[in-house]
Amino acid sequence: MRGVALWFVTLGTVFLLIGMGWGIKMSASQDFTLAPAHGHLNLIGFVLFSIFGFYYHTVPAAAEKMVAKLHFALAALAVVIMVPGIVMAINQTGETLAKLGSVLGIIVGLMFLYVVVTTRETA
Ligand code: HEM
Repeated sequence: MRGVALWFVTLGTVFLLIGMGWGIKMSASQDFTLAPAHGHLNLIGFVLFSIFGFYYHTVPAAAEKMVAKLHFALAALAVVIMVPGIVMAINQTGETLAKLGSVLGIIVGLMFLYVVVTTRETA
């Protein structure tokens, strides 16, 4: 594994470790208020990143495209904006980051659709 595929799987595993540490902290404190933010960090940060990473590994032609690098950058940005945004929304200190992160999430999904559709014949 190399390039964008490796970036996705590596950063995804970092998000997983942070998410698991967060889960352990919630369990230890018995304070589950931020569980939705923990869930999104693990599901988008680890599960989606892993799917993206293994897709790019399986379809190297897709990973060579410039849009794949942009896809990785925007996906990383979406996680680091969305997760604190959910924390802020739960704590009622503002919803702007959560909204911005959500829109970025949609864009990341659309970019993946574009990558998949435009590389279907080379796979
Ligand atoms: C060390 C590993 C983990 C620990 C200790 C942990 C712990 C927790 C705890 C304490 C909750 C709150 C439960 C409640 O509200 O009663 C929770 C919720 C959740 N966790 Fe984890 N978790 C871990 C890993 C993961 C992973 C790997 C994923 C996904 C890939 C995940 C996804 C979720 C989801 C979706 C929720 C529900 C969020 C919600 O209620 O809105 N967790 N977890």
